[in-house]
Amino acid sequence: MRFTSTFLALLDAATSKASCTLTASGGDDSPQFLSAVKACQTVTIPKSTTLNIATRLNMTGLSDKHISLQGTLRFNPDIPYWTGNAFFIPFQTQVTFWLLGGKNIVMDGGGTLDGVGQPWYDAFAGNSTLLRPIILTVFQATDVLIENINMINSPEWHNLVNEGKNVVYNKINIHAVSNSSHFASNTDGWNVYRSDNVVISNSVIVNGDDCVAFKPNATNVLVTDLDCTGSHGISVGSLGQFPGVFDIVENVLAINIKMTNAQNGARIKAWAGPNVGGGIVKNITFQNFIESKVDNPVIIDQCYMTNATACSQFPSNTFIQDVWFNNITGTSTGSTVASLSCSPDGRCSDINVNNLQLSPPSGAAKYTCQNLNITGNAASLFPACIST
Ligand SMILES: *[C@@H]1O[C@H](CO)[C@@H](O)[C@H](O)[C@H]1NC(C)=O
Ligand SMILES: *[C@@H]1O[C@H](CO)[C@@H](O)[C@H](O)[C@H]1NC(C)=O
Ligand SMILES: *[C@@H]1O[C@H](CO)[C@@H](O)[C@H](O)[C@H]1NC(C)=O
Ligand SMILES: *[C@@H]1O[C@H](CO)[C@@H](O)[C@H](O)[C@H]1NC(C)=O
Ligand SMILES: *[C@@H]1O[C@H](CO)[C@@H](O)[C@H](O)[C@H]1NC(C)=O
Ligand SMILES: *[C@@H]1O[C@H](CO)[C@@H](O)[C@H](O)[C@H]1NC(C)=O
Ligand SMILES: *[C@@H]1O[C@H](CO)[C@@H](O)[C@H](O)[C@H]1NC(C)=O
Ligand SMILES: *[C@@H]1O[C@H](CO)[C@@H](O)[C@H](O)[C@H]1NC(C)=O
Repeated sequence: MRFTSTFLALLDAATSKASCTLTASGGDDSPQFLSAVKACQTVTIPKSTTLNIATRLNMTGLSDKHISLQGTLRFNPDIPYWTGNAFFIPFQTQVTFWLLGGKNIVMDGGGTLDGVGQPWYDAFAGNSTLLRPIILTVFQATDVLIENINMINSPEWHNLVNEGKNVVYNKINIHAVSNSSHFASNTDGWNVYRSDNVVISNSVIVNGDDCVAFKPNATNVLVTDLDCTGSHGISVGSLGQFPGVFDIVENVLAINIKMTNAQNGARIKAWAGPNVGGGIVKNITFQNFIESKVDNPVIIDQCYMTNATACSQFPSNTFIQDVWFNNITGTSTGSTVASLSCSPDGRCSDINVNNLQLSPPSGAAKYTCQNLNITGNAASLFPACIST
């Protein structure tokens, strides 16, 4: 799927309804934004305009819409209002300001989604059960392009793709850094859930949690040309957490990634232990990563949140197959540069490492592994894997 200027021109011309341009009302601008998107093919928020989004945005079931966001949507940090009014998303007990769904939707224009996260980060520090909204949830949508948009200071995740198909994010600039002693936690760049054929490209992310995370039933995802700073990396999972639920992550390519000052570089994590779920992680490639000061540059953890005894007794039911770590270079913060840790009983297969050039701040690089056979031209960097 490609959105060309011709496509956009046709989209604009195909409608009988006029384009609409919004100006700030001085009060809550959500109602006028909602009705404009319902009534008009193209909705423009001009460069000098900041709309005050003080009530939730249900924009589901749209078709053929173009939101030209040149100015700003500012999400009013009225915590008592959003508590109880933000849309609830059952997966991982999330809430969101905005559901955007339907067919053939474009949002572009160089403007900004401002989540005004600071008061949320500060409130969360004193109340760990506070649900903080995701800025934008692409919800039950097909053929969506979000391009050339800034997203700043989300209270929580910046983006969730929830039951989407053919969704492209291009040239997105994400920035969330707290100015108080309270960290901007859980400010993931993207989470992809129950979605197929998703592209995330040419973007810069400075945040406090995963840069991109592939959650249950993310399939055919391309992540390319990202520059991530301060994050928890490009992560598959965590998967297999909930009893009775089967999680699939398949056909993922993460390529040309710069990862700086991060907790993880390329990561796969799956639960083990009693009373968890299961699933399959298959055909995942992490390629051309340049990492700088990363705690865990290359990591598989198939005993996630599970102690060694429990992991031996109850190996993960989330099988991991056909994984490539190719051309991963740079530096770690500690001595371990790569850790491939699988559950016992052959739960990982066809795990490949090629052209790894990773160095610790001092001393020899440490490579660790358990319960798998490693292949590829960098396999010899690993000692014989421990069996548990
Ligand atoms: C959003 O609006 C649609 C269509 O008007 C409605 O069917 C749906 O229930 C609303 N969703 C929520 C979560 O309120
Ligand atoms: C913490 O946040 C929850 C959820 O928003 C809310 O119900 C609760 O009252 C808050 N607790 C305190 C002590 O503010
Ligand atoms: C912290 O301050 C900087 C500089 O004013 C600003 O760009 C950034 O958005 C602020 N962060 C938050 C979370 O408000
Ligand atoms: C993932 O897809 C499989 C196969 O369609 C389905 O059985 C499973 O319930 C889905 N899991 C989730 C978390 O949606
Ligand atoms: C593996 O995933 C890649 C990238 O998403 C895809 O191009 C390729 O076709 C997949 N291979 C198989 C055998 O499905
Ligand atoms: C390895 O990755 C680096 C950094 O992305 C890239 O410049 C280089 O071309 C890659 N090497 C190969 C052989 O693909
Ligand atoms: C390991 O986890 C199991 C199951 O969750 C728990 O019962 C056990 O006490 C834990 N053992 C240790 C040493 O923490
Ligand atoms: C490693 O490969 C050997 C030979 O194919 C196989 O017997 C063994 O089960 C494999 N070990 C693991 C941990 O997968």
